Amino acid sequence: MKFYIFYFLVLTNLFSAYIESKNCAECHDNIYEEHKMSMHHNSSIHKDLFHEAIKYKTTPNKYDCAFCHSPAAPNLLDLKTGDIKPNNRIKEEIDGVSCFYCHQITKVMEAKHQNINFYNYTGGKPTFFANIKDPDMNDKHASNSNEIYKNSQVCMGCHSHKYNSFGIEICNSKNEPKEPTSDCIGCHMPKTSGSPVKVDKKGRSNYATHDFLGIRSNEMVQKAVDLQLIKTKKGFDLIIKNKMGHPLILQPMRLKYVQTIVERKGKIIWKNFKISPLEDKVATFTTTYKNDSGVEVLPPQAKGFLFQNNIGIGKSKIINYEVVLKKGDVITSKWYSLIVRPELAKELGLGDEFLKVYEGTKVQITY
Ligand code: HEC
Ligand code: HEC
Ligand code: HEC
Ligand code: HEC
Ligand code: HEC
Repeated sequence: MKFYIFYFLVLTNLFSAYIESKNCAECHDNIYEEHKMSMHHNSSIHKDLFHEAIKYKTTPNKYDCAFCHSPAAPNLLDLKTGDIKPNNRIKEEIDGVSCFYCHQITKVMEAKHQNINFYNYTGGKPTFFANIKDPDMNDKHASNSNEIYKNSQVCMGCHSHKYNSFGIEICNSKNEPKEPTSDCIGCHMPKTSGSPVKVDKKGRSNYATHDFLGIRSNEMVQKAVDLQLIKTKKGFDLIIKNKMGHPLILQPMRLKYVQTIVERKGKIIWKNFKISPLEDKVATFTTTYKNDSGVEVLPPQAKGFLFQNNIGIGKSKIINYEVVLKKGDVITSKWYSLIVRPELAKELGLGDEFLKVYEGTKVQITY
């Protein structure tokens, strides 16, 4: 069954005349400008240096990452087995999670290790799916609506879950497998004013944005959690509430944390950590893995967990700090996020853009 599905995917890709994302700009200029800057456009091994570094360090001889990072590649199976290597002259590979790829998904099949995107291309002019009411005709493609572009199922072929070849969970976007998918589109594709097409015959006044902002946006990181500080007899409680439609940690190599300081008359008298946030493990969120000998390894080689701290959808975590405080002491907590743990970024030789600290929400009380 599995083989049949992969075969089917490969077939459809080979036989359809691929249209590069940049060619959609002829008519969808606004959407293309946003997409060009997104991590979907930059997801391939030829553009994302972090992804490339992990791939070569962990699975140098095969490239099964392509199913999500270069899904339009015409030779997914051969990349998976290692019979062929990624090639920066193949336009479908460089194009990453492309317009053409996303908009032909008709169904997402649930599977154990990772879900599978399904097409039903039958030849000729491609049909692109979304939710526009009564779309205008055009000579490049047919249009049709499909429920999965409304209920966010279309995201779940790549973003639902992933287990490595040893059966260890690498990411999971739900608290429970059977839970309905949250409104990914509502939060990550907010409507903006403007037209979805250049020559707008229907006079549409807004469209769904395509920059898919996430951890690389201060504005989005601001919306990740709610922080609350409550005085106690022996110090204070910090409450972290996850506001997102998925657990706090999706991609396990991220680092997210709260920094808390106490000031007395303008001088810092206490901090929850001195140098590394990992000194305060309860307020630090990331995932690290180990092999059979207990040595730290990267996700594809993991056989177990070394460290794991996460908060599920709609869940909160209460951290109790015992600090001797005086009336008038000022307590401040602030949320921070990094694309990758700094020690790992350095080990991989990644540049400054990967060491950037994104600033989130802040809370302050006086004791
Ligand atoms: C089932 C789909 C899927 C597969 C297979 C997959 N990834 Fe990913 N990967 C994702 C998604 C989705 C994200 C974005 C997750 C997020 O930001 O939380 C991502 C993000 C990443 C990132 C972070 C990139 C950045 O710059 O922010 C790295 C690194 C990465 N993947 C490496 C790999 C490697 C290496 C492989 C193959 C061994 C792989 N992935 C296979 C879906 C997948
Ligand atoms: C020659 C112009 C042209 C090109 C090139 C073009 N489109 Fe379109 N597309 C249109 C028009 C016109 C509509 C209808 C818009 C409307 O009614 O407001 C449309 C609608 C769509 C829709 C909405 C479908 C629906 O049923 O809701 C999607 C999705 C789409 N296009 C994707 C793409 C993608 C992906 C590409 C590039 C691979 C592309 N288009 C290239 C003209 C074009
Ligand atoms: C074909 C696979 C695929 C599909 C379908 C897909 N994504 Fe992604 N998405 C990825 C990959 C892979 C990345 C990570 C790219 C990287 O960082 O290298 C990503 C990145 C993202 C990010 C940015 C993460 C960051 O770095 O901040 C967001 C947000 C996102 N996706 C949301 C969505 C939503 C919402 C949908 C559904 C409308 C969706 N994606 C559909 C594969 C996919
Ligand atoms: C209630 C709003 C909300 C919903 C619903 C939501 N997200 Fe997010 N998501 C966010 C915010 C805010 C961030 C940025 C903060 C962060 O990354 O910590 C984010 C971050 C992300 C990232 C980057 C995370 C990382 O650590 O790299 C990905 C990928 C993503 N979302 C995908 C999805 C998918 C897929 C869905 C649907 C299952 C979804 N989101 C539903 C608000 C939401
Ligand atoms: C990660 C998957 C994904 C990628 C990549 C993507 N889209 Fe979309 N697109 C969607 C979804 C989901 C919707 C429906 C959003 C809604 O209705 O709220 C949509 C909506 C649209 C629409 C209809 C406009 C509207 O307001 O609903 C057009 C046109 C479109 N996309 C064109 C493109 C083009 C052109 C590209 C590349 C430049 C592209 N899309 C890339 C997922 C994607």
